[in-house]
Amino acid sequence: MTTVDAVLEPFVLSKERLQEIKKRLLSEMEDGLAREGATIRMLPTYVHDLPDGTEKGKFLALDLGGSNFRVLLISLDGRSYTQTDEPKFEPLSDDVKATTQEALFDHIAECLQKFVDANGITEKLPLGFTFSFPVLQTGLTKGTLIKWTKGFRAVGAEKHDIIELLRAALKRRQGIEVDVVALVNDTTGTMMSNALQDADCHVGLILGTGTNACYMERLDAVKKWSEPRKPGVEHIAINTEWGAFGDNGTLDDVFTEFDNYLDQNVSINKGDQKFEKTISGMYLGELVRVICLRLHSLGLLFKDQADIPKFQTAWEFLSKYLSDIETGDVDESLPATRAILSDMGVASASDDDCRAVRRVCEAVSTRAAHLAAAGVSTIVEKIDKTRKCSVAVDGSLYKKHPKFAARMDAGLDMLLPAGHGVKMQEATDGSGRGAALVAAVACRLTATASA
Ligand code: GLC
Repeated sequence: MTTVDAVLEPFVLSKERLQEIKKRLLSEMEDGLAREGATIRMLPTYVHDLPDGTEKGKFLALDLGGSNFRVLLISLDGRSYTQTDEPKFEPLSDDVKATTQEALFDHIAECLQKFVDANGITEKLPLGFTFSFPVLQTGLTKGTLIKWTKGFRAVGAEKHDIIELLRAALKRRQGIEVDVVALVNDTTGTMMSNALQDADCHVGLILGTGTNACYMERLDAVKKWSEPRKPGVEHIAINTEWGAFGDNGTLDDVFTEFDNYLDQNVSINKGDQKFEKTISGMYLGELVRVICLRLHSLGLLFKDQADIPKFQTAWEFLSKYLSDIETGDVDESLPATRAILSDMGVASASDDDCRAVRRVCEAVSTRAAHLAAAGVSTIVEKIDKTRKCSVAVDGSLYKKHPKFAARMDAGLDMLLPAGHGVKMQEATDGSGRGAALVAAVACRLTATASA
């Protein structure tokens, strides 16, 4: 007879397997740097410089990405800054995410208008737009959305220029005067935000609803870069879009039957973002749910309950429960697991049931942390920064899960040379401040060019 451990065994990735995954990731990253259309897209961001601390002025930031939608007013003065993010807006509903691009961008323009009015902003301010999706950029304010990710699917946006869609919506709503000066991925914003205080920050990482990383790469290494090189410009931030790792089959031996089930039967983007689906907050709860269903059908879980309707319903087991369980199970009676199981309609959970569900949560989040560590260690080795590098990290999974950071550190220690100097640093509002910084650097460069 099989056991809970046997079912969870494929989630345990040994050091050797993780090293093998790193090799494949590196080779896919190289492919992405060499050509358009590779699985890992390795998108040039047109951000060539980290902030130098002289950035000044007032900026608006729009932040559209995963769980939150925000507008911020940010004042930069060298290394210090202040920000206003009032009024706050509701997270986007699933309906808005799935409507048309016009409806989505009209909603964004409306929120921007409310924000500008509420804060009595009368001057035309530069705006940085953090748009956290894969965008093929051809300039700092030009880029087409390749594909929606993370549950968005507003019709009419894919393959279109995002800044044009935003500007068109602002035009439809006459009266908002802003100057859109930069389009930024959240990973880039996160890296920029920390780089302001920390000269060793070369990597930006998001572990939230989705997962992705960016880093500063030598332009020489970006083989597909065909634009004229400007003197003195030697680096560029690359948005890896590593969430798509494995979409071409390279990780088929790593994905479990549960990953495949989630990808094919639950997610709205079958076959896409398969690495993301093993790591990020949007999916971890779902993984736990489908594993528990299997354990139930094998007679290893909730033996006293034939029907577990909530467990049979997609998205009912929230990713937040993984954090709640590992935070709240303060003693052997596992009170947090018990409470969540009761919310999930399992009235008669036994001690063994609670222990098993907790083990499932640990297995799923530990694998996620180790895969994220494999990703980060591949990048820092690629740019030869294992001796000293800080990785700016943002996102609810990293910040709210009580053990994710420690598991990731353990993963990095396992995968990098002894005594490495790679440090994970939580970001200070990457998407907001980072967008303002990219906008500020853009304004500085425009001013220098026209001087
Ligand atoms: C998804 C998006 C990516 C973003 C990440 C984190 O992977 O495709 O652009 O950076 O989520 O928000």
